[in-house]
Amino acid sequence: MEFNAPASTNPIDRMRIVGKPIDRIEGRLKATGQAQYAYEHQDAFPDQAYGHVVGAGIAHGRIRSIDRSAAMAAPGVLAVVTHENAGKLDLGKMNTAPLLGGPEIHHYHQAVALVVAESLEQARAAAELLRIEYEPTPGSFDLAGGKASGGEVLKDSPDERLGDFEAAFAEAPVTLDATYSTPDQSHAMMEPHATIAAWRGDQLDVWLSNQMIDWTTSDLAKTLGLPKENVRLRSPYVGGGFGGKLFLRADTLLAALGAREAGRPVKVALPRPLMANNTTHRPATIQRIRIGATREGRITAIAHENWSGNLRGGKPENAIAQTQLLYAGGHRLTANRFVPLDLPEGNSMRAPGEGAGMLALEAAMDEMAEKLGMDPIEFRALNDTQTDPRDPERPFSQRRLVECMRLGAERFGWNRRQAPGTRREGRWLVGMGMAAGFRNSPQMKSGARVKLDAAGTVTVETDMTDIGTGSYTILAQTAAEMMGVPVEKVTVRLGDSTFPVSAGSGGQFGANSSTAGVYAACVKLREQVAQRAGFNTAEAVFADGMVSLGNRQLPLGQVAGEAGLSAEDSIEFGDISERYQISTFAGHFVEVAVDKATGEARLRRMLAVCAAGRILNPKSARSQVIGAMTMGVGAALMEALEVDKGRGFFVNHDLASYEVPVHADIPHQEVIFLEETDPLSSPMKAKGVGELGLCGVGAAIANAIYNATGVRVRDYPLTLDKLLPGLPRVA
Ligand code: MOS
Repeated sequence: MEFNAPASTNPIDRMRIVGKPIDRIEGRLKATGQAQYAYEHQDAFPDQAYGHVVGAGIAHGRIRSIDRSAAMAAPGVLAVVTHENAGKLDLGKMNTAPLLGGPEIHHYHQAVALVVAESLEQARAAAELLRIEYEPTPGSFDLAGGKASGGEVLKDSPDERLGDFEAAFAEAPVTLDATYSTPDQSHAMMEPHATIAAWRGDQLDVWLSNQMIDWTTSDLAKTLGLPKENVRLRSPYVGGGFGGKLFLRADTLLAALGAREAGRPVKVALPRPLMANNTTHRPATIQRIRIGATREGRITAIAHENWSGNLRGGKPENAIAQTQLLYAGGHRLTANRFVPLDLPEGNSMRAPGEGAGMLALEAAMDEMAEKLGMDPIEFRALNDTQTDPRDPERPFSQRRLVECMRLGAERFGWNRRQAPGTRREGRWLVGMGMAAGFRNSPQMKSGARVKLDAAGTVTVETDMTDIGTGSYTILAQTAAEMMGVPVEKVTVRLGDSTFPVSAGSGGQFGANSSTAGVYAACVKLREQVAQRAGFNTAEAVFADGMVSLGNRQLPLGQVAGEAGLSAEDSIEFGDISERYQISTFAGHFVEVAVDKATGEARLRRMLAVCAAGRILNPKSARSQVIGAMTMGVGAALMEALEVDKGRGFFVNHDLASYEVPVHADIPHQEVIFLEETDPLSSPMKAKGVGELGLCGVGAAIANAIYNATGVRVRDYPLTLDKLLPGLPRVA
């Protein structure tokens, strides 16, 4: 089904099932431990052996030699795979560095060997016996140092200019020129990367934990030099991804290589201490923002320049993305500068681009509002734009940012906000902050197959994944609504490369795109049912497990008969997203208290008001947003991969020292969704929320801390050591 014009009224608009806060249909399986995650498929193949990944002990250089003899002779060892016996491996499209390093080493903890043994303990013990001689060479590990020498303009992210920024900025009566920095961050998902791989001849069968089945199937086949149809991937449950599982990673490639070498199925999970440096991360940024405005607060000039590092061949974090779209202003400059670094591979982490960019832009907007003597909401509202600021002919499909902020202000009690540093409660300095929320909502082609059997059961099959987001449930709701059956009559099967290719889970495109794919397949199935029932498709009514026309009605199962019916289709998006900017919006509000003696910041209340099209399931959508807000707390207050700039690696590579928020850090959280539908997004009229909830919330916290203390820290995370020097020395 081609989607290229605004959606008209369709069966989803009935909203009998779609839009209801129903529980996760797979929730019981997960809560009772029956949902098997990648490493748990003990019964998938007989005789599974265990692989232990060895990560490089240097950041940059070469392996001079590997002596495998002692490891091979150790008890239980079946195979040791290194670059010397792995055969020729291609680089997957999605990978920047080889997933099995050697002789060249591209980053610290790049995999250099897999030891396969009868037990995990034997594999791990034997790994200690590998003798690897390295030849380290100096590398670049310091983003700030690289920025000092300028950085590079990459071909695929050229500077974007509109008007004459420099002249307009020079003339503006009120200006801000501020530089913000954000650290490297780790996805730190609960379930580590894990795989079980088995060969049957040249057929490879894999269970793994992955967000994008089709990309990863292609890349695994390409890397191994196999035809894609020889590779089967299954990833029915994923214990968190956040972008860290978008791609083929070392666990999967090495499990496949280990299984081939050992002649046995092999299972591999990355040990937690390997994850920060072996897998991908969100790259650090240094962002300079300049805003010029009239005295009345109209932005005339806005510039956002970002410096960010990655391995050569990788990309900078696209931290300027939102600044191209969020506020009006005739003279504009946005630029990404690439700094080649020899740190581990940087890549997508939840809301890549806006996640880091909004931390800077929305703090800058707060600073600018103060310079103008304006309320931060009024300043943003005055500079709202209903069209792409770069092209007045290109409207937003829907943009209700101002309503999000105004409703949030009312609900949060924004009028009780005081001047910076003036509200005290004993030892606590208390303040409020807000920020806009903004994240684009991409449309991605997505396919599905929908079957109907004689019992009237509907089965959905798509390679879509559920990374904890609720995909199972919203896909079931979609099929139930379309076919007129209760959710209990829908079975959803996901994450299998033999199923139709879906959008997958990423970039907050999954919910809208994959449900639209199921919608498209259901439209076809409805046609088949109507035809077989002898009804006119357009007039047939699907409800209560029946198809009916006038006073004739037939149970769906009877129409399907013993042979059943099956329909398959994809939603394909035409050029709608070129003609319209499809984005999601929020108002984030935060209240914090800062200990005046220690600088410890504590959250008190958080509110997000979101405008994201039709909300398919308010319960799972709310969970997405509160999870994202929680991640924003991490970004604002604690998360940072600390770089050893001498040796070139992330030092705090475990969950004891990479701090993420826990329950005790998370106060009252409230989420409000504006009632809306976006007919330009898809037949579902929905958009993404999973990343919107993150974008802006960290800046709202920074702005609240400023309001509480009068101290502006521009270097995230806002840890107490950075606040302390500025805190007022009062009793
Ligand atoms: Mo998201 S970072 O695209 O999984």
